[in-house]
Amino acid sequence: MEFITYEVTGPVGTITINRPKALNALNSQVLEELDAVLDSVDLDAVRCLILTGAGEKSFVAGADIGEMSTLSKAEGEAFGKKGNDVFLKLESFPIPVIAAVNGFALGGGCEISMSCDIRICSENAVFGQPEVGLGITPGFGGTQRLARLVGPGMAKQMIYSARNIKADEALRIGLVNAVYPIEELLPAAQKLAAAIAKNAPIAVRGCKKAINEGLEASSMAEAVAIEEKIFGDCFETEDQRYGMAFFLDKNKDKVKEPFKNK
Ligand code: CAA
Repeated sequence: MEFITYEVTGPVGTITINRPKALNALNSQVLEELDAVLDSVDLDAVRCLILTGAGEKSFVAGADIGEMSTLSKAEGEAFGKKGNDVFLKLESFPIPVIAAVNGFALGGGCEISMSCDIRICSENAVFGQPEVGLGITPGFGGTQRLARLVGPGMAKQMIYSARNIKADEALRIGLVNAVYPIEELLPAAQKLAAAIAKNAPIAVRGCKKAINEGLEASSMAEAVAIEEKIFGDCFETEDQRYGMAFFLDKNKDKVKEPFKNK
């Protein structure tokens, strides 16, 4: 792969978008490589992913403006679909994905971070949907996910005005969960990923599915029915039996073993 690196340390995989000449902007090739790297993740071994950008300036500076500049209507729609398909794969990826946003997260960069389960960022991070300043709408899910994450009023203000916001404002409006000095960002993402990876993997995956699918349900009754099914499924796992037996065992000297993912 030319623009993506993938490293696995224990149960945590880190995907890095690495196209420094264009501040890690997403052209078709980057999207194809992202799609392929997700397909290559060993879901038996890896329990949490981190997505970040190479360098200390930019996470992802958007979709590639050069590539988009000559698209026809049909090609524009196809390019939007190409991004949306990869971002949907990321959003519904079986294990959690943490976006470690290390700088500019504009347009497609903000959009890819919003397809992740959790966003944390560096103090120099800048978020925004500048598309209307380029004569287009957000095209990789920005009109949908931003409104769901920060509410329609704030999303509309950001998208219509094309105003970028800094890390502290992103934190205030709930677009990110935490802000770190740049050198502490990846260690913080790794610490969070390790904490997630320690828990029962089937249960963690079930939580992701229940939250994502429940948010798309048409009523609370339908949403909690999704939860009930996933909750029930846990009782067929060794991890549930072990986790509860460990709690109920009053021997305080016993050391908790890693969950088996079974
Ligand atoms: N596409 C293509 N190339 C990009 C790019 C992008 N989105 N963002 C930056 N680059 C390139 C620049 O053209 C420049 O290349 P050259 O060195 O060959 O000239 C290089 O990256 C460095 O960028 P700058 O010189 O502009 O760096 P800067 O520090 O002065 O500014 C910036 C940084 C504010 C992020 C600025 O680059 C910028 O505004 N980039 C575009 C941001 C943007 O509008 N993103 C949204 C794209 S539209 C979109 O994403 C649609 C969608 O929803 C699918």
